[in-house]
Formats: sequence, C-alpha cells, structure tokens
Amino acid sequence: MTTSNQTRVNVSKGKKFLITAGLPYSNGRLHVGHIAGAYLPADIFSRYLRLSGADVRAICGSDDYGVAIMVTADKEGKTPAEIAEYYNQSHKNALAGLNIDFDIYSATSRNPYHKPTTQEFFLTLSNKGYLKKGSTNQFYDPMKEMFLPDRYVKGRCQYCNSLDQNGDQCEHCGNLLDTNTLLDPVSTVSNSPALVKSTAHWFFDLSIFEQNIRSWLDTALIRPNTKSYVEGLFSTGLVTRAMTRDINWGIPVPLEDPDAQNKVIYVWFDAPIGYISNTKELCSIQDSNPDTYTDWWKSSNCEIYHFIGEDNTIFHSIIWIAMLSAEGSFNLPNGVIVNSFLNIKFPTHDVEKISKSRGSAIWIDEFLLLGYGPDALRYYLTAISPEQTRSIYKPDDLITRYHSELGNALGNLVSRTLSMTQKYIGSYVPDIGDSYANEQDLIFSQLTKKIHQEVTELIESFCFRQAQDRIFEFVRECNKYLDNKAPWKTAKSDISITQVTLFYCLSAIKNIAVLLLPFLPTTAEKILAQFQIDSKTVCWKDALTDLSPLSYVGEPIILFPRIEEKVEPLGPNK
Ligand code: MF3
Ligand code: ZN
Repeated sequence: MTTSNQTRVNVSKGKKFLITAGLPYSNGRLHVGHIAGAYLPADIFSRYLRLSGADVRAICGSDDYGVAIMVTADKEGKTPAEIAEYYNQSHKNALAGLNIDFDIYSATSRNPYHKPTTQEFFLTLSNKGYLKKGSTNQFYDPMKEMFLPDRYVKGRCQYCNSLDQNGDQCEHCGNLLDTNTLLDPVSTVSNSPALVKSTAHWFFDLSIFEQNIRSWLDTALIRPNTKSYVEGLFSTGLVTRAMTRDINWGIPVPLEDPDAQNKVIYVWFDAPIGYISNTKELCSIQDSNPDTYTDWWKSSNCEIYHFIGEDNTIFHSIIWIAMLSAEGSFNLPNGVIVNSFLNIKFPTHDVEKISKSRGSAIWIDEFLLLGYGPDALRYYLTAISPEQTRSIYKPDDLITRYHSELGNALGNLVSRTLSMTQKYIGSYVPDIGDSYANEQDLIFSQLTKKIHQEVTELIESFCFRQAQDRIFEFVRECNKYLDNKAPWKTAKSDISITQVTLFYCLSAIKNIAVLLLPFLPTTAEKILAQFQIDSKTVCWKDALTDLSPLSYVGEPIILFPRIEEKVEPLGPNK
C-alpha cells in the first residue's frame, strides 16, 4: 500500500543538515548530465539552507574504486590510482568553475578515514551474521586466466534482451544483473566467450531488510515517481548480492579466512560509506577532530539528504538503506532526491543519450571556455531540470535563453533601472515617504511577499525548476511595472512619481537578487554589490524588505554580455 509521504523539508535556524551528492567515478570528466542530475540541485539546496540560517555541511568526492576505473586505467596505460587522482582534480575544477561549493570534495582512495570506516562497517555486518560466505559461479576468461568482474563482461539482459549490457546493471531497463544471469557473455578483455567458474564471496541478503526499507520508504522525502519505482522492485523480490570482488583495486576484505585473501569489498558497498568517511575528514579539518562526525550521522538534530541521478536509485534506496539498517548505529537519510537523465539534442542530430564513447556530451571544462559564465549553465540546467522525467539539453536553446531570459529580461531590468536612477535621482535610493504610492505601486510592492513564500515552498519541496521559473516570472512582472509606469515620462511631468517607481523597482531588484543567490550566485552577488550589500551577510528573509531610502545605488552593469559568434557552442565531439 502506498501512503503519502511528507513532501517538504522543515527548515529552521540552527538546525543541522547534511547534504550529499552522488560520488562520481573518477574515470572521466564531468558533463552537463552529472551537473543537472545531482551536483547543481545539491548546491541550490545547500545555499538555500545556509541563507535560511541552517547549519549545513555539503559532502562530495570521487568514487575511486571499482572496475570502471580499472578499465580506464588499462586503456590509458596508467595505474588506477593515477587515473583516480587526475579525474578527482578535474572534477574539482569543473565544480569550482560552476560555483558548486561542497565543504569537502574528497576521494575514496585517498581519504585516510575511508578504508578503516568501510572495513569496520563490513566487520560489523559480518559479526552480526549479515554477510555470509558462499561460493558462486563467476565469469572467467580462460585466455587471460582471470575472473571477470561485472564490467569486463558484456552480454544480453535477461529481462529486456538489450544487447551489450555489462554484468552489473542493465542500462536499458535498470535491473540489476547479478553475475552469471547475463546471456551470451563475452569477455571484454580478450573478446572471447566467457566461461563460468566457482569462487568464494561474502553475500548480503537484502530480503531480510525488506520491512526496514518499506517503512523508511513510507516516511522518507522522496519523489512519487522514485517511490513507485522502488516499490516496483519489491515485486520481483529483493536478492542476495555478493559484497566482495576478485580484483585488486579496492578496499581489502578485512577477514582472516584464507578465502578472503586477495579479495576487495564491492565498490557499491564502499562508495556510500564515503559519505560518512568524507564527513569524518571534513570534521578533522574543521574541528580538528574526526569524531565530531557523529553530530551529523548519529544525532537526532541532523537531517540527511542524498542527491543522486536515476541510475543510482537502487543503490541508495535499497542497498544503502539495508546496509545502514544492518549496521544499526547511523541515522537513515531523511530523503533521497533523484533526478532523471538528461538527453541531448544537437541541431542536426536526433535526441540521444549523453555518451562519452559517441562524443555526444557537453563537458563542463569546455563549456566554461566559451565565456557565457557559470550562471548561464546553472540557469539553463535548472530551467530544464529533469525533476519528474528525462529532459533534453539543446545547445542552441541555451543560447536563445541566455539572450532572452537572462540578457533581455533580467539583465535589462537591472541595467535600465540603475541607469534611470543615476539619471533622474543620483547614486542613491530615492526617499519617497508613503504619500505618492498609488494602488499599482502598492500591488507591485506586495508581490515580493507572495513570490518569496512561493519560492520558499517550492525549494523546500525540491521543485527547483518551478522555483527558478517563479523568480523569473517576478522579473517579467517588474519589467511590466516599469513599462506601465514609464518613469522616463513622469520625470518630465512629476519627478516624485518617477521616484516612487524607481524606489519599488530597485527594492524588487534587490529582492530578486537575494532569491537568486541559491540559483545564480555570481549574478546575484553582482547585483547586490550595486547596493553595497555583501552577499555573505544576507539571509533569506532579506528578500522581503524595501531598500533603505538614501542608501547607495551603483552604476548600471552588464550582467549578460551578448555573445554573437557562438551560434552553436560545442557540437558532438570526439
Ligand atoms: N560512482 C557512482 C556513479 O557515478 C555513484 C556513487 S554514489 C555513492 O554512478 F553513493 F556511492 F557514493
Ligand atoms: Zn534490461
């Protein structure tokens, strides 16, 4: 039975929030799909919480272990550690370029707390009897004489018959494909048919925790589409999954058993524990004491939210919940916020999936070189955010919207209001008293409150796309107000009417800037600077007030310069 969950976060001053975003594998650059899926929404939410006075830690880092990194290392003739370090730095640069601010961006292979935390977690589950040794048939490459982990085997999905799926999860139907359920398996190492051979592993029976997962699911903040997807997985039954692997890149299995030698912990077991170990590392830096991580993971005053892309749903809403339930000492997350995939459409192509191998991706480092600035991408990715269903990134659409919604609507509103203020008033906010405001002015000045409330509710319900839309509706309302009141005309007949109009417009612009701080931080800071407001001292409620009469107003600025040449930023690349 589906009960309806709480849909909104309860934010209050001083309350603690731990925000995480899925740890990306460190074997490739970040592209727009990663950003739209997890990192931007996590950043918007964290910025909003901080503005509201909450005590926030935003946690991320790279997921360094697992076969994906080994495959890339093989291809590039490097060690997995070298690959992981290189891409960890590349991720940091991309996130910094977009002003996506995590309090820590660590790396599972280099965070000194990660190995002990993971091994301890593993041992606790083992001591409690939740990790059982068993033998399993595994793919084996007879030519290379090695066991083949998931990603070294390709074959047909037993559920939907899709070809070329790897042995971990079907990209097409999303089902987990436990080893040896793949049909017509081929080793990707030697391209020869894979055999099946027996090996020992430690198994975690997820079905034991079905009830825990179900009751978590009924209270967690989770989008309805995610919830029904997870409930659908119960109907096929929860399986027993091997939590160890026969590879040499990962965290050693901490058991004395001779069969455990040379085995590592499954990457999907260690990766989410990275949220905990990265919190420890952050605490060791901020508090000089890693043990204060319990304030975030074991305290009843802290809420935990995981932001992830859709392919991570099973791991966070089933396996991770089962792991935490089995371990028993950490809090379960209060919510798991899942975005769907972003597809991409280049002007002369069909809609396609973002794919590294086909070159159909927009890479963050390349986007940042085009000169549109971070907020152009932040704006566009939130405007098309795949919150309910998959959505489509269109490079030409980004440019159109950059010029129309950012340049014409927001940029012009700010520049014309500031230049009229300079021209008709001076470098300060006009002092109007109450006397000259007519009904239209008062209605307009009340709009701020309504918008503030709506945007607050939308953000607290994780509807970032609608929240940003609502702010831009406000921008358009301001432009309309300005057009209707035509302060350049009244300046000739009655300057006090011009003063009133500009007073309310300047105040609205300041309020828009505060509301935009979570979404477009660079732009919002530039606007606030024109009022000599330091964005670091601003709080969310500051979007509800009028400016003080006679306070400073700066010169007009160009927020979004026109970029003529680049009609098509980044086509499909190699
Ligand atoms: N590395 C995984 C991916 O890129 C995500 C790991 S999320 C975590 O799909 F929970 F495990 F950290
Ligand atoms: Zn499938």
